[in-house]
Amino acid sequence: MLSVITLSCFLLLYTVGLQALTITYNPEETCAVKGSTIVLTCSYPPTRQYFRRGHWYRHDSRTSASDAGRFVLSSASKDCILKLDGLTSSHFYEHRVETSYYPMSMSTNVETGPGRANLTVVDTLRKDCWGVSYGSVTDICLLEGSTLDIPCSYGFPRGHTVATAFWYRREKKKDPTDLRDIEQYKGRVEYLGADDIHNCTVRIRDLGLNDSWQYHFRYTTDKPGGAFSGGPVNILVTDLQVSMSSDTVTEGDNVTMSCSTRCKLKGNTTFIWYKDNMTPIKTSSRHPSTSSSLHLDPVSSEDAGQYYCAIEGQEDVTSSAATLHNENNMVTLTCISDANPPVHTYTWYRKDGGNITLLGVGQTHVVVSNSSEISGFYYCVAQNDIGWKISELLSLPTSGKAS
Ligand SMILES: *[C@@H]1O[C@H](CO)[C@@H](O)[C@H](O)[C@H]1NC(C)=O
Ligand SMILES: *[C@@H]1O[C@H](CO)[C@@H](O)[C@H](O)[C@H]1NC(C)=O
Ligand SMILES: *[C@@H]1O[C@H](CO)[C@@H](O)[C@H](O)[C@H]1NC(C)=O
Ligand SMILES: *[C@@H]1O[C@H](CO)[C@@H](O)[C@H](O)[C@H]1NC(C)=O
Ligand SMILES: *[C@@H]1O[C@H](CO)[C@@H](O)[C@H](O)[C@H]1NC(C)=O
Ligand SMILES: *[C@@H]1O[C@H](CO)[C@@H](O)[C@H](O)[C@H]1NC(C)=O
Ligand SMILES: *[C@@H]1O[C@H](CO)[C@@H](O)[C@H](O)[C@H]1NC(C)=O
Repeated sequence: MLSVITLSCFLLLYTVGLQALTITYNPEETCAVKGSTIVLTCSYPPTRQYFRRGHWYRHDSRTSASDAGRFVLSSASKDCILKLDGLTSSHFYEHRVETSYYPMSMSTNVETGPGRANLTVVDTLRKDCWGVSYGSVTDICLLEGSTLDIPCSYGFPRGHTVATAFWYRREKKKDPTDLRDIEQYKGRVEYLGADDIHNCTVRIRDLGLNDSWQYHFRYTTDKPGGAFSGGPVNILVTDLQVSMSSDTVTEGDNVTMSCSTRCKLKGNTTFIWYKDNMTPIKTSSRHPSTSSSLHLDPVSSEDAGQYYCAIEGQEDVTSSAATLHNENNMVTLTCISDANPPVHTYTWYRKDGGNITLLGVGQTHVVVSNSSEISGFYYCVAQNDIGWKISELLSLPTSGKAS
């Protein structure tokens, strides 16, 4: 008789207070390099009680399991997932589940443990910790046509086997795709460190302006949750642009040309200026710079011509041409009219044989007198509110006034 009573008391205690949840963490112990992003997950068997809340806690003291130094990290729900961004230091993490016997019950049970997740954060990359290192290379400016090697190493915990490892470019709402499988990069991307599992060095050849983007290295392993992406590498590809303070030569004037890149190329840059048939005319000094100037001071008619620039070491990539015209070769045509009501539109045409070309709208029109487009006759059409009138035909070179 006595033994039956003892047994039922035991059963009562068991259902009311001692039904502990066992929370297991994945991973239970892991390490990652500073600044990276890690996802911790946990799981527990179905509870017969009502689930009220789930919280993640962080223990700031790694030596004490007491409540001191414990922070609520999230009021996550049942799914038990914690994403940690920009890791700075080592901590224990713990999930606590609150349950109650009845849905609206005032009293709740807090279930945790028995274990905790042990996350160690290391300052520099280690082969046995999650992490990717690109050395010091994270912002890169390159001239179009260049080949770029991004040094890269990565680590993963012991016991994991790498399943996939590839470079991708950040796209909104798209899963990471291996660059080698993207049409734009076909045949231009090579993984150099293939014979060392911790070496993710990549080479991208023949960079174009539209390769300017944010790139990442990513890998997955054979274990659940085994996935990691390195931080961004920003690539900016630039061309060379030439601008001029004036595009005509007026004898004795001061013309300044400037050759520039959109970003600062690595190291010291030497700009080379070319004229006409790619004859080098000036080389800038070697220094870190995004632009170089060419002063034609004073400019003479012999300076007229086409100018280009390039960068030493990559002379095959040149800027587009900028043309400095000799003013003596420029003819300005002016259309004059004394119409009443006044003229509101002047239009210039060129008649060459049977072809008539519309040159432009405006009272004046500038013609480069030694260009191939010089032949034929020029005329203007003046329009007012009443009608229109065609000027006489002009042939060049001439003083250029049509009435
Ligand atoms: C937590 O992980 C670190 C690094 O792996 C280890 O040195 C330490 O002993 C672990 N702590 C516990 C309590 O397991
Ligand atoms: C990775 O591989 C490349 C190409 O073989 C090599 O140049 C580089 O030194 C390697 N990096 C490391 C960290 O071993
Ligand atoms: C990128 O630019 C190259 C030429 O510079 C062009 O051939 C290619 O189609 C462009 N790709 C995209 C995706 O715009
Ligand atoms: C010509 O322009 C350059 C650069 O703007 C200036 O340094 C120089 O003094 C100018 N020379 C004259 C004669 O104006
Ligand atoms: C770049 O030029 C500066 C002087 O303009 C010089 O002190 C420095 O050593 C140069 N650096 C390289 C990598 O050539
Ligand atoms: C008219 O223009 C066409 C095409 O631009 C050219 O082939 C043809 O020779 C021109 N005719 C004359 C008479 O210049
Ligand atoms: C126009 O004349 C200048 C010299 O005055 C010469 O350098 C240039 O090549 C000529 N352009 C053409 C298209 O003939």
